[in-house]
Amino acid sequence: MASPPVLLELSGITKRFGGVRALDDVDFAIEPGEVVALVGENGAGKSTLIKVITGIYPPDGGTIRYRGEPVEIRSRRDSQQLGIEVLYQELSLVGVMNAYQNVFLGKELTKRYLGFIELLDNERMRIEAERILLEQLGMDFKGRWEPIFLMSGGQQQAIALARAIYAEASLVILDEPMASLGVEEVERTIAIIQRLRGAGVAVIVISHNLEHVFAVADRLVVVRRGRKVGDVPKDQITPEEAIALMVGRLQEKLVTREGPVPASSREEAHRGDGRPESR
Ligand SMILES: Nc1ncnc2c1ncn2[C@@H]1O[C@H](COP(=O)(O)OP(=O)(O)OP(=O)(O)O)[C@@H](O)[C@H]1O
Ligand SMILES: [Mg+2]
Repeated sequence: MASPPVLLELSGITKRFGGVRALDDVDFAIEPGEVVALVGENGAGKSTLIKVITGIYPPDGGTIRYRGEPVEIRSRRDSQQLGIEVLYQELSLVGVMNAYQNVFLGKELTKRYLGFIELLDNERMRIEAERILLEQLGMDFKGRWEPIFLMSGGQQQAIALARAIYAEASLVILDEPMASLGVEEVERTIAIIQRLRGAGVAVIVISHNLEHVFAVADRLVVVRRGRKVGDVPKDQITPEEAIALMVGRLQEKLVTREGPVPASSREEAHRGDGRPESR
C-alpha cells in the first residue's frame, strides 16, 4: 500500500547564530491533515525551526521538499506562495488596524472606479471577513471596527486564523497559540485546529502545555538543544516520557511509519552523512 503523501519534508536542517547551534541536523516531516505538536524547553529551537519553514531564517544546511519537490524558502513571500500560514508567538497582526484589515493584510480586495482607478473594496472585505469569522470560527465580529489592540488575545487569534483560512493555507503553524488564553478560548482554539485537520490542512502547534498538546496533536516532535530527540505518534508516548525527552532524562525516541528507530542505527547514520564539524 502506498504511504500517504508528505506535504513538507525537512532533511538535515542546521541553523547557527554565532556560536549557538539553534538547529542541528534536524529532520521533520508532516502530512496533509496531520497535527504535529512541537515541544521542547525554552531555547530548544522550536521557533527557529518555524522560522526556517516560513523563510524568515534561511538554513545554513539541509534541504526542504514541499509536496515532494525540492524548494528554497528564502522569504515569508516564498512560504506564503506554498500555502504556509503562521501565527507567531509575537502575534503578527497590526494593532492599529481593525479585524477586517488584518484578515486581508497583504491580500486586499480591490474594486475599479471609473474603469481604471483601483480602490480598496472595504465593504466586500468586511462582509467576507465577518463571514469567515462567524461561519468557520464561530465568532461574531459584526459591526466591530475598533483597532485590534483593544481586543482580547483569543479574538486576535481568531482574526489571525481567519487570515489563514482566507489564504486557503495547506500548512498552518501556531507558535504558542494558547499561552495567554482563558479556558473557553483554549477550547475554541483546539476546535479550530481540529476543523483545519478535518479540511486536510496540516497544522504544527508549539505549546509548553502538555495537556493542550495531548488534547490536540496526532504526533509529538520533541527538540532539545537544537536536536530532534523525539518523534512519536501521540498514542505511543506519555506526558512523562515527553518531559523526560525535553530535559534529557530520556535520550531519544523516534517512531517512524515503519516503526521504532533504534538509537544505535541513527548514530551510524550520523557518522556517515558528512555534515560539517561544529565550529
Ligand atoms: N535571532 C537570533 N539571534 C541569536 N540567537 C538566536 C536568535 N533566535 C534564536 N536564537 C537562539 O537560538 C536558540 C533557539 O531559540 P528558539 O527561539 O528557537 O527557541 P524556542 O524553542 O522557540 O524557545 P521558547 O520556548 O523560549 O520560545 C536559543 O539559544 C536562542 O537564544
Ligand atoms: Mg519560541
